[in-house]
Amino acid sequence: MFHAPAAPRPRKRSKPGEDSVSRREEATFQDVRIFLVERKMGRSRRSFLTQLARSKGFVVEDILSDAVTHVVSEDSQSSSLWPWLKSRSLSDLSTVNVLDISWFTDSMKEGRPVPVETKHLIQDILPEAPKAAPVNKVSQYACQRRTTIENNNRIFTDAFEVLAENYEFNEIEGRCLAFRRAASVLKSLPWAVRSVGATQDLPCLGEHTKAVMKEILQYGRSFEVEKILSDERCQTLKLFTSVFGVGPKTAEKWYRRGLRSFSDVLAQPDIHLNRMQQSGFLHYGDISRAVSKAEARAVGNIIDEAVHVITPNAILALTGGFRRGKDFGHDVDYVVTTTELGKEENLLISIIESLKKQGLLLFSDYQASTFDLSKLPSHRFEAMDHFAKCFLILRLEGSRVEGGLQRAQGDGRGWRAVRVDLVSPPADRFAFTMLGWTGSRMFERDLRRFARLERQMLLDNHALFDKTKVLFI
Ligand code: CTP
Ligand code: MN
Ligand code: MN
Repeated sequence: MFHAPAAPRPRKRSKPGEDSVSRREEATFQDVRIFLVERKMGRSRRSFLTQLARSKGFVVEDILSDAVTHVVSEDSQSSSLWPWLKSRSLSDLSTVNVLDISWFTDSMKEGRPVPVETKHLIQDILPEAPKAAPVNKVSQYACQRRTTIENNNRIFTDAFEVLAENYEFNEIEGRCLAFRRAASVLKSLPWAVRSVGATQDLPCLGEHTKAVMKEILQYGRSFEVEKILSDERCQTLKLFTSVFGVGPKTAEKWYRRGLRSFSDVLAQPDIHLNRMQQSGFLHYGDISRAVSKAEARAVGNIIDEAVHVITPNAILALTGGFRRGKDFGHDVDYVVTTTELGKEENLLISIIESLKKQGLLLFSDYQASTFDLSKLPSHRFEAMDHFAKCFLILRLEGSRVEGGLQRAQGDGRGWRAVRVDLVSPPADRFAFTMLGWTGSRMFERDLRRFARLERQMLLDNHALFDKTKVLFI
């Protein structure tokens, strides 16, 4: 199902006087074709960086053509770079990574092309929605909004997330949800909000939300958000809940005892950490570092190999954020089952056993199935489903990952720990499980709300139930 990572080609020594075509053929990283923009960089620095990159096995194109995959510019002002790029009559700019120099320097340091992250991108300034033209009405339901991975309104949505999380810590659920809803609406816009007036036809934006937006538009920041970010309690709760297995309740308990740092917690002789929290602390650095798509695929290969030894009729499907097209995630989510109904019962146990034998299992929390068709439908939002599932931490070897591991600087290990979630429904529940685990959380929440309020149906991770016909679909 998954391809084994291709080994990088060994680099040949370059001969003097070779042309760029033969140099290209010799390069180690054939898939990445860099073009360095001369403007702001200057001719001599460009030439120096070109030689540096080529000496490290990178392909650097002299001319900007359709062959280029990575445009690198020292001028990170998108207002000057993008119009120039658009004037170069390339066939499809949307497939080109337009990056600032930090991606290049990081790649030189690592000796390989590092994965592209948002921080590297020089994004095109999108035109604001036309004032006069009729704007399509934005639905109040996330499941009715077409939302891309790109977020044109990050300055607002990052602020909303801080506020939402703070309300979550204070158990004010309504306000927490309101800010998450507002963020979800702004994320769906193919344009950047430049004035509060432009939001007048948008749903789910209340007084408080608009006041925060206004402040950000006026001053570039929200004072309310800054206050929260510098608040000791909020900082501490955020720190503690960033540990796998530590929820807001435990974090609050530790905070009330006067604990402020991990070393404070770990130095308390009477604090009992459960197994999950112990693993959370042990692998903290690895787990809090983003997981790349290549790492997610490598995890898939491991599960795929394990499950096919157990049964030839296995079904394995990537879900969660990676299924939505995200490049990075906090974990890897897979649905795994078998076409033989009933055989899925022990599937996860066998997979866990196999991972343990291979020395790949660093932590496992298995929850057996409590699924009972006769108890359907459940109509509580966000309720966990009843299928067998496990929350794992796996040891992932760098050699299994195409392009290498996401590593911290100075990390000399050849492996990292990765959080992995597996869920194993009976095959006839596969579609609902996939739908329920693909996310995002707001999408799922609104899909259920839409089903209930607009279609008189009940939806959860197990089934869709038609209330008017008293019938499972
Ligand atoms: N989910 C679920 N039941 C669980 C755990 C998760 O239904 N017991 C669903 C969540 O509602 C979510 C999806 O599975 O929609 C993925 O969850 P998670 O991994 O937490 O989020 P992602 O969207 O994958 O984000 P990230 O990339 O940060 O992992
Ligand atoms: Mn996930
Ligand atoms: Mn998950």
